[in-house]
Amino acid sequence: MTASDPSILYPQHLDVLRSRADAALERSGHDHLVVPSGVLHYQVFDDRDYPYAVNPQFKAWVPLVRNPGSWLVYTPGETPRLVYLQPADYWHVVPEAPGGYWAGHFDVHVIREAGDALPLLPADASRCAILGESGSTLGPFAPNNPQAVIDYLEYHRAYKTPYEIAMIRKATDRGVRAHRAAERAFRAGASEFGIHLAYCQAARQDANELPYHNIIALNEHNAILHYMEFDRVPPREPRSFLIDAGASHDGYVCDITRTHAIDTTGEFQGMIDAMDVAQQALCAQVRDGVDYARIHLEGHLLVSRILKEAGVLRMSPEAAVECGVSAAFFPHGMGHGIGLQVHDVGGFLASDRGGRIEPPEGHPHLRLTRTLAPGMVVTIEPGLYFIDMLLEQVRQGPHARDIDWERVAALRPFGGIRIEDEVVCTEGDAVNLTREGFAALA
Ligand code: GLY
Ligand code: MN
Ligand code: MN
Repeated sequence: MTASDPSILYPQHLDVLRSRADAALERSGHDHLVVPSGVLHYQVFDDRDYPYAVNPQFKAWVPLVRNPGSWLVYTPGETPRLVYLQPADYWHVVPEAPGGYWAGHFDVHVIREAGDALPLLPADASRCAILGESGSTLGPFAPNNPQAVIDYLEYHRAYKTPYEIAMIRKATDRGVRAHRAAERAFRAGASEFGIHLAYCQAARQDANELPYHNIIALNEHNAILHYMEFDRVPPREPRSFLIDAGASHDGYVCDITRTHAIDTTGEFQGMIDAMDVAQQALCAQVRDGVDYARIHLEGHLLVSRILKEAGVLRMSPEAAVECGVSAAFFPHGMGHGIGLQVHDVGGFLASDRGGRIEPPEGHPHLRLTRTLAPGMVVTIEPGLYFIDMLLEQVRQGPHARDIDWERVAALRPFGGIRIEDEVVCTEGDAVNLTREGFAALA
């Protein structure tokens, strides 16, 4: 047994979930929390189902991600109930009987048909806060998603329990192994598709198990923020490689980006190295009491300094941030909370009673505006890209002369750079799960 043994960490996690649910139900005035795991969805005019995506409110309680038709019922003061659908089915693999470190903490009822859940749910549906999608409706149990409950749970979910941090760390350890394999494939001359396959092989997860569509981009493709194609043929001249790819573990996920250059002594490698130093400085700013939006704005300044150093900017880095030119090169947010979801919910919540903290003006894509506190796990992912569409707007605007367009043309074939780690806010220095994962591989 180790400090990360889930059988040791899970009971405390469950206690936290119970007390959060107690408080949320008190806010909304309901007697029970009822959470369906979700249902399969079908393609239009077809009998093919889409990949199943579990209700995150369900997997918060139990590490089950492949069990549509199941239900979680929590009544304050009682053992939580798990209604577990294990259908009689000879077409598909049937889920195993529930077991593992978590199962003994539930009053488990195995059912064979989805409708059999009904008598196992509370007697009066009107007394239930039911969290889920409308398709999960069973008899009178139609998800009502009370806002007071959602706000309370989503706000507090930002503060991870030690169990959750251990799960994110396990996902990260899987992800960094696969990142190493992907870099090897890149250096061996593989296509984007080949690199993707090498990644999946090393992660031992396929596309539906990965937490999001892999971004595997070579050369100019690095500049397409959510590049989701996989070219089958390697480019004639591979120059740069941006990989944004994660992995999952028991419902928790990681989100990691690295950028590599073929020429490890060239100018673009120098820019990657400068971005790496800047990214580490930003990670170090993850501290109790820090406004995350300030880290985002500081990131714009650091990226602008790198552009100035590279001779791309003729204006001062401060002026580039002030007038919005930096956003043409760094047009996304600094990052987001992460845990059960890649972009974890509640990033804008002002309090557990709701309300919204808006991102700073001119930065509409920032996904997290809360003040950091111990237990929060966030990504730090500054970027620097040469995106034709955005640069054309600058070229047409009042700051065209503040850019050296020849330098832009020289760097454009490399696409861009993003470096992304997952960082835990503590009472002291931040813990960088991603860097620790890579270091453990070395
Ligand atoms: N992989 C998506 C993101 O970094 O937010
Ligand atoms: Mn990412
Ligand atoms: Mn991210």
